[in-house]
Amino acid sequence: MKVLVLGGGGREHALAWRLARGASVQRVYVTPGNPGMATVAECITLKSYTPEEYLGLAQRLGVDLTVVGPEAPLVAGVVDLFREAGKPIVGPTRAAAAIEGSKVFAKEIMNAAGIPTARYAIAEGEDEALAALPRFELPVVLKADGLAAGKGVIVAKSRVEAEDGVRALFSGQLAGDAGKRVVIEDFLPGREVSFIVLTDGVTILPLAPTQDHKAVHDNDEGPNTGGMGAFCADSILTPVETQDVLERVIQPAIREMAARGVPFTGFLYAGLMMTARGIQVLEFNARLGDPECQTLMHRMNSDFAAVLYRAAIGRLAGATLNWDAAPSVCVVAAASGYPSQVRIGDAITGVRDAEAGGAVVFQAGTRLMDGVLETAGGRVLGVTASGVDLRAAMNRAYLGMEQIRFDGIHFRRDIGAKGLK
Ligand code: AMP
Ligand code: GLY
Repeated sequence: MKVLVLGGGGREHALAWRLARGASVQRVYVTPGNPGMATVAECITLKSYTPEEYLGLAQRLGVDLTVVGPEAPLVAGVVDLFREAGKPIVGPTRAAAAIEGSKVFAKEIMNAAGIPTARYAIAEGEDEALAALPRFELPVVLKADGLAAGKGVIVAKSRVEAEDGVRALFSGQLAGDAGKRVVIEDFLPGREVSFIVLTDGVTILPLAPTQDHKAVHDNDEGPNTGGMGAFCADSILTPVETQDVLERVIQPAIREMAARGVPFTGFLYAGLMMTARGIQVLEFNARLGDPECQTLMHRMNSDFAAVLYRAAIGRLAGATLNWDAAPSVCVVAAASGYPSQVRIGDAITGVRDAEAGGAVVFQAGTRLMDGVLETAGGRVLGVTASGVDLRAAMNRAYLGMEQIRFDGIHFRRDIGAKGLK
């Protein structure tokens, strides 16, 4: 079959790479894609990346299956449009994608379905937020209601920090319009886990568990980012914990969405905190995580397109996914200034050398200018590798990272370290 992937980041590079290896796949197209994918897929540029333009492309290319990477096309209604046209696509409708697009809606779903989550308040304005703050202990968590590329969350350790955060959110300075409504919630200490399932609305097929590293600096210090690295290993959750997540989080969420007439299809991502008092949900996303996806695709050992096609046509029952025993690790190299003011246009070298050492370099914020690969975004690339154990996977990924050079490069040195404890 011919498969089209929407998006152009590291997640989509990894998707295209895995899809292209499947026996059922003839050809992979990606729009817009990035220079790293050229060896596994054909990258196509569009004018404005609207749902209509995506559908036109899918029809012109005669693709059998479309897979959506990022949230923006979902929230714009790309899945609704493809369904109307009878084109198989993996992802939630616009209405179902609100589970990610609005943190307030996600909290409503969790409350209605009895899914464990932090105690919270919703504020529609600065004064309301400042008045609610004293009801929370420190640290306190502030979240922009809307989409903010992982940067709309503040964990405030002092009253002053919390008040400054409220002002930064409502002024639009931090997350633009996404910060017009703010969720204030209790801070939950614990171990973070990304639990992602594929669903056709009825059948649930869990992917392997992963762990993201959101803060920009080692030891989880500094501001939050979209994710500075991840690892994928079965040891992240015990079989009992996995069962618990399915029964107390995933199944109730999917049941609740269906009961509201907005059945969820595609990838449902639960951002979990494993606390002393059990599992708590931090957030839901309506897509694969980035960089979690890079580690998942590296470890997966299945004809993914065949399974995705079954999800797209509502026949997921009985499908399985296989995973290599070896854990995988992805370390992200970020550009100067990320996650605030990013500088672009720095020449990148060492991708070939990194791959010669057994890693795979999934590109994200890169572009080719006169034949030179250079930085074009905050998260530039993710060096991904596996090994007999987590330590070996980390060593191989960091060995690859040593080869990568560009001005202003920074990356965390402790991706995976929590999994060794
Ligand atoms: P979210 O977009 O809601 O996942 O938040 C981004 C990141 O902020 C999470 O991945 C956590 O690292 C952190 N975070 C969010 N909510 C909480 C919370 N209630 N307690 C502790 N950390 C949190
Ligand atoms: N890495 C976190 C996310 O994709 O939301």
